[in-house]
Amino acid sequence: MTNIILLGPPGAGKGTQASRLEHDRGMIQLSTGDMLRAAVKAGTPVGLQAKAVMEAGQLVSDEIVSGIIGERLDQPDTGKGVIFDGYPRTAAQAASLDTLLADRGQALDHVIELEVDEDALVERITGRFTCAKCNEGYHDRFKQPKAAGVCDVCGSTEFKRRPDDNEETVRTRMAEYRAKTAPILPIYEVRGLVKRVDGMADIDVVTSAIEAILDGR
Ligand code: AP5
Ligand code: MG
Repeated sequence: MTNIILLGPPGAGKGTQASRLEHDRGMIQLSTGDMLRAAVKAGTPVGLQAKAVMEAGQLVSDEIVSGIIGERLDQPDTGKGVIFDGYPRTAAQAASLDTLLADRGQALDHVIELEVDEDALVERITGRFTCAKCNEGYHDRFKQPKAAGVCDVCGSTEFKRRPDDNEETVRTRMAEYRAKTAPILPIYEVRGLVKRVDGMADIDVVTSAIEAILDGR
């Protein structure tokens, strides 16, 4: 079992890389952003609390996100390990994660920081869209479907964009990252867990770099 955190600002490629690792290695992607969006869509109590906060680009409360992560870790499919994508995002969440893992006799193996140039991220995010059916990710410039308008994976012709993927909200999301998330890196640094990957390289190159870390190469 290998448990890793993918850390990086909005648009760094956390979701792109996590879904590849899930596909290639049978690890499970735990994206708090995806879980919260599903809750908003379903209109659950968590979703009702999270909706406006997410649309403003601010962070949802630590209690809510650590709660949904704890519930998810108890499901039986996480045996090959977990990729935390977008969690933890604050010092309090990092402390909760330590407890959640310790309670289950587990530990973290790597914290992989995707190093990126923030100026390039706005373009990445505002160009992003996903398949409405299977959630495969695409980009207007960097990753178009092979056949225009048709999902490569499931053949659906419907796509969607996130309501928080506009320039103004992206700026708030980045400010939140700098103020609350980047400062948790030293917690993992002192434990020798942090590995850095150039997140500005091509998507395949980033994947290879992460796989090398997982394989201890
Ligand atoms: P979340 O969904 O986690 O969003 P985020 O952190 O802002 O990150 P993104 O999903 O935007 O970026 P990504 O790194 O996954 O990039 P991607 O792979 O898609 O969170 C959303 C909101 O939910 C938060 O603002 C907050 O309100 C709430 N929330 C979530 N978790 C929370 C928590 N723990 N605590 C509190 N609140 C929480 O890539 C982006 C684009 O670039 C894609 O189009 C992709 O195709 C392209 N791309 C990727 N890699 C490359 C590359 N190497 N080269 C060129 N293009 C690339
Ligand atoms: Mg994401």
